[in-house]
Amino acid sequence: MHLNQITLLNFRNYEQATVSFNQGINIILGENAQGKTNLLEAVYFLASGKTHRTNNAEDLINLRKDFFKILVLVNNGIRENSLEVSYKKGEGKTTRINGIIKRKREDLFDQISTVFFSPDDLRIVKGGPCERREFVDEIITQIKPTYRFIKMRYVKILKQRNALFRSGLENERIVEQLSAWDEQLVSFGAKIIWKRANLLEAFNNKAKWIYQALAPQEWLTVRYQPSIGPGSSIEEIEDKFRIELEKRRMTDIELGVTSVGPHRDDFRIEVNSKDSRIHSSQGEQRCIVLSLKMAAGLLIREETETEPIFLFDDVMSELDERRRRALFNLFFKREQVIITSTSQMYFGSLLKGGKTVSLFTVSQGKVKKIGRY
Ligand SMILES: Nc1ncnc2c1ncn2[C@@H]1O[C@H](COP(=O)(O)OP(=O)(O)OP(=O)(O)O)[C@@H](O)[C@H]1O
Ligand SMILES: [Mg+2]
Repeated sequence: MHLNQITLLNFRNYEQATVSFNQGINIILGENAQGKTNLLEAVYFLASGKTHRTNNAEDLINLRKDFFKILVLVNNGIRENSLEVSYKKGEGKTTRINGIIKRKREDLFDQISTVFFSPDDLRIVKGGPCERREFVDEIITQIKPTYRFIKMRYVKILKQRNALFRSGLENERIVEQLSAWDEQLVSFGAKIIWKRANLLEAFNNKAKWIYQALAPQEWLTVRYQPSIGPGSSIEEIEDKFRIELEKRRMTDIELGVTSVGPHRDDFRIEVNSKDSRIHSSQGEQRCIVLSLKMAAGLLIREETETEPIFLFDDVMSELDERRRRALFNLFFKREQVIITSTSQMYFGSLLKGGKTVSLFTVSQGKVKKIGRY
């Protein structure tokens, strides 16, 4: 799928702006603090309800206004749809598809699919297990939206279970009540582990060749480290999970936590079998995360038959000339990529590659198209 147009009203530093994109590569150039990230953030927020910088939609309203609106025209290969989200102080969000108000925001997420890279995403490599779990879970949700509800249920049961530990009840009473929670925890937890394990096989195949395009002779692998040993079926994982919970029951009650389950999973990101968190350089870590994001997009395309729109923020910095060229060649193969950069120099000789490339500049929330190749 691809975006044909976006219109922003009072979104961050944009008061009123309309930008028309083409298929292929779109490059947004601008100095610091002009609105490059804000533009990509607007698309990602509309498509996912999330942004990497805030949990509060009010922060997205232009400081001098009391509402914002994001409107996009998106082509999904069959038709063009108009998708809109607006937010007004005191009233909250309104979602429209082709002008018709939708009660559930998820309806909108079904209509547009994006993969967003932000330099903050380097924390997928550098950060703790939580960052990696979130990355993997977001891919699964994009492929299978009901996964969101499985996770929500799991987290809720986990919270209730832990609250029971801290309720001040005698241990005997706690144990009596636990079995009801545990069965549900096991059931939802095993589904999460099963999904995560299954995703990785197909994912790794893609991540590997993408990374090799950027760094020849290097093998990127994401290795699942489930807190409960893997199983060949959901039932097997359920059994293992149940046994572990029982084994740890008394210490868990003592400590007031649930010490085993998919909320304790991790993923080890390896290059040539070495842990990239410890061994990879800054530029390598960036290439790793870019490869993970591209692989996510390709897997989503394979599973949903729709290629997401790639939104890659500040993508070229820290990369050497050879890697920039390799990355750009990967971009040429995608239906639509929208990238931002502070410098046109990065693109000098890269622009002529067969597919359309449009160049835009942004300055103080005003976007201008400056060229097409
Ligand atoms: N709610 C808001 N209202 C008005 N301006 C805002 C709001 N939120 C952020 N801004 C401003 O928008 C400007 C552009 O931010 P943005 O993150 O898009 O910059 P950028 O072009 O990506 O810069 P960089 O190259 O440094 O990443 C910043 O000066 C920021 O202070
Ligand atoms: Mg930025």
